[in-house]
Amino acid sequence: MSLILHLSDLHFGTEDAAVMQALLQLAEQQQPDLCLLSGDITQRARRSQFAAAATFLTRLSAPVLAVPGNHDLPLFNLPARLLNPYGNYRRVFGQALEPEFEDEKLLVVGVNTTRAARHKNGEVSAAQVQRVAQRLEQAQADQLRVVMVHHPVRAVQGSDVANLLVGHEQAVPAWVDAGMDLLLAGHIHLPYMVPLEDSSGRQRAWSVQAGTGISQRVRGAIPNSVNLIEYQSNAGQRQCSIARWDHAREQQRFVQVRKTALQLGRSG
Ligand SMILES: [Fe+2]
Ligand SMILES: [Fe+2]
Repeated sequence: MSLILHLSDLHFGTEDAAVMQALLQLAEQQQPDLCLLSGDITQRARRSQFAAAATFLTRLSAPVLAVPGNHDLPLFNLPARLLNPYGNYRRVFGQALEPEFEDEKLLVVGVNTTRAARHKNGEVSAAQVQRVAQRLEQAQADQLRVVMVHHPVRAVQGSDVANLLVGHEQAVPAWVDAGMDLLLAGHIHLPYMVPLEDSSGRQRAWSVQAGTGISQRVRGAIPNSVNLIEYQSNAGQRQCSIARWDHAREQQRFVQVRKTALQLGRSG
């Protein structure tokens, strides 16, 4: 079985120390095989904030794959924003803004949806849509096929429609057609799951949103939250479930609030 810890919107610089400890405890307990970070790792893209994130990640003791969020580009430091927007990000996460992870059971494709010219909203280009689709088509029958971006492709509250990824109308059906199972994202600090359709309207994939993992920037009464994704496949039989774990302040730990077994699309 593969176990993936999906974290988003850690916003180092605004982290809650007690929640961070609770998250490290959860990781220690669950021993994930892989940790995915869907952006907004820092609050203001400062070198010190990335350094704090790096220290945290070494304590997770799992391989980490990340994509940047809008907060990982400097906002007020205009020269840096224009000339080297990913400088501090790359110091910790390396040159690749669109990393991939692959093993026998998993294929994860990272997509950078941030744009230095935009303050907040994300975008996916035609070239990115095509590259990811081609990569998904090369997946093995037993692999869980995951795409990770920062910006959401579906909204469950009217106020989030304006936050949707520009280009999602093209990207989502193309990627589902190409075999995507899960599209992981964050950005709006609201955890939820919504089915995604292929170009003929059949539900074959899932949009999986994570809340903010450890930041004090919670949305209203919604607590800090992370996802644990379980996957196994045997001879073409693929099983996947997603558990949402929320931080419970009184108990000072993360607790599982929901676990959903997912219907996956085609295996080959
Ligand atoms: Fe965020
Ligand atoms: Fe964001």
